[in-house]
Amino acid sequence: MGLARQSRAGGAAAGTAGALSVTLLLGIETSCDETSAAVVESSGPGERPELRSLVILSQDVHAVFGGVVPEIAARAHLTSIVPVVDKALADAGIGFSELSAVAVTHAPGLIGALLAGVSYGKALAHSLDIPVVAVHHMEGHLFAASLEDPDAEPPFMALLVSGGHTMLIDCPAWGSYELLGATRDDAAGEAFDKVAKLLGLPYPGGRYVEELAARGKPGRFKFKPPMLDGTWKANQPGYHDVSFSGLKTAVLNAVRGSSDIERDRADIARGFQDALIETLVEKTVRAADERGRSRIVLGGGVACNRTLVAAARKRAERIGATVHSASPRLSTDNAAMIARAGLFHFERGERAELSLNAFATLPIPGLKNAAGF
Ligand code: KG4
Ligand code: ZN
Repeated sequence: MGLARQSRAGGAAAGTAGALSVTLLLGIETSCDETSAAVVESSGPGERPELRSLVILSQDVHAVFGGVVPEIAARAHLTSIVPVVDKALADAGIGFSELSAVAVTHAPGLIGALLAGVSYGKALAHSLDIPVVAVHHMEGHLFAASLEDPDAEPPFMALLVSGGHTMLIDCPAWGSYELLGATRDDAAGEAFDKVAKLLGLPYPGGRYVEELAARGKPGRFKFKPPMLDGTWKANQPGYHDVSFSGLKTAVLNAVRGSSDIERDRADIARGFQDALIETLVEKTVRAADERGRSRIVLGGGVACNRTLVAAARKRAERIGATVHSASPRLSTDNAAMIARAGLFHFERGERAELSLNAFATLPIPGLKNAAGF
C-alpha cells in the first residue's frame, strides 16, 4: 500500500540500462505554496549530480491573508503544475521521453497541496512508463546545500529550520539520520513570521524581520535565549530541544509596552533575532561537538538568514567545524532539493508504487531519534 511507500528494486543500477547510462530525474515540489519542478542529471551513484533546471512559482496570493490558505494553495498547484514542469524540461533542453524517473514530495505538508503534486507525478510517470520515487520534504532540505557545495556531504550535524519544522539531526551517512532535538512549540520560521506580524511586516516575514533587525540597536531590548540556561544539562531529555513560544510572548509584551513603536520596532526585531539565533547556534554547535562532527549543514527557509549563518560560522570555528548552507533559492522550498534526494533513493533502487499516497505528517525515512524509537 501507499504507506509502505517504497520498495527496493534489485540494487543500485535498477532502472538504468547499461554502465554508461545517464539518469535524468524530474523533481516535483508542491507541499506548501511553491509550485516547483527541477531536472537533475547523474552519471551514476557516487558522481556529483548536475542541476539542469529549476523553476519555482511562488503563490503570492497568500500574502493578503497573512498566511497560507490550504484550499487556495491546492487549487493553484493544479493550475500551475503543467506549465511549471514544461518550463523545467524546456530549460533543461530535454523532452519527456528522455526522463528516467519522477521524484515527488509526498510528505509532510498541506494534504491538498501534496496531493496535487503526487497525483501529477504518478500520472506522468505512469504515462511515460518510468518509475516514481517518493521524497520526504525535510530530507530534501537536508540535501539542498550539497547541490552547490561539494563539502556539504555526510558525516555532518544538520539544523533544519523552516516554516513548519525545527530539527537538529545527526547525519553519519545519507539515508541514516538521528533526531537529537526539535522545537517543543513553534518552528523557527513560524516564530519569525509571527513576530513579523506583531511588528506590522508582510507575510512571510522572516526576511523582513532580518532586514529590520539589521537597523536595530543590539541590547536595547534584551530577550532571554530560550532553553539555554543551566537547568538544561547534557544527557538529560530536552537538552537539544528548542522552544520559541516564550520568546514570542516576550516580543508581544515589548510591543504592547512600547510608547513609541515606530522608534522601537527595529530594536525589538534585533533583540528577538539575537535571542533566537543564539539558541539555535549554541544548540547546533554543541551537538556537533558532542558527536565529533566537523561539518554543520543548515537547511530550510530560515537558513536564508545571513545573520544566522554568520553567527553559526563564528561559533563553529571554536570547535574547528565548517558551516554549509545553500543559496536562498535552494534554501526555501524548491524542487531541486527534491530531485536530489529523489536521485539518492532512485540510485539505491527504491521505487514507489502507484498507490503512493500523501501524508500531512510522516517521519523522515531512516530517522531514529535520540531515545532510540
Ligand atoms: O523551508 P521554507 O521555504 O518552507 C517550509 O518548508 O516551511 O521556509 C519558509 C520559512 C518562512 O517562515 C520564512 O519566513 C522563513 O523561512 N525565512 C526566513 C528568511 N527567509 C525565509 N526567516 C528568517 N530570515 C530570513 N532571511
Ligand atoms: Zn520547506
